[in-house]
Amino acid sequence: IQITFIDSEGTARTVEAEEGATVMETAIRNGIPGIEAECGGACSCATCHVYVAEEWETATGQPQPMEEDMLDFAFDVRPTSRLSCQIRVRPELDGLVVHTPTRQG
Ligand code: FES
Repeated sequence: IQITFIDSEGTARTVEAEEGATVMETAIRNGIPGIEAECGGACSCATCHVYVAEEWETATGQPQPMEEDMLDFAFDVRPTSRLSCQIRVRPELDGLVVHTPTRQG
């Protein structure tokens, strides 16, 4: 399952993701810059903020209420904003593209 992270300067990094891991864990494991994940995936820091590419919005689904609340603390929130620790990798997400924000928090 491949996930592509595109940073705010447009540099794309495609990495191999494990099914069942989260998009945040995949980023950290692969040293993707722009994702801090201070809380380690507990949905309580908002520093794993990403923008899901429009064509992937349906596949990744909508944020849960707890994630919505936490997103209020993220910098430059947009309609496609998600917390990457709340997106679990599944085969249907093969090819997923997410953009990382200019900064976290
Ligand atoms: Fe803290 Fe996602 S890692 S909210």
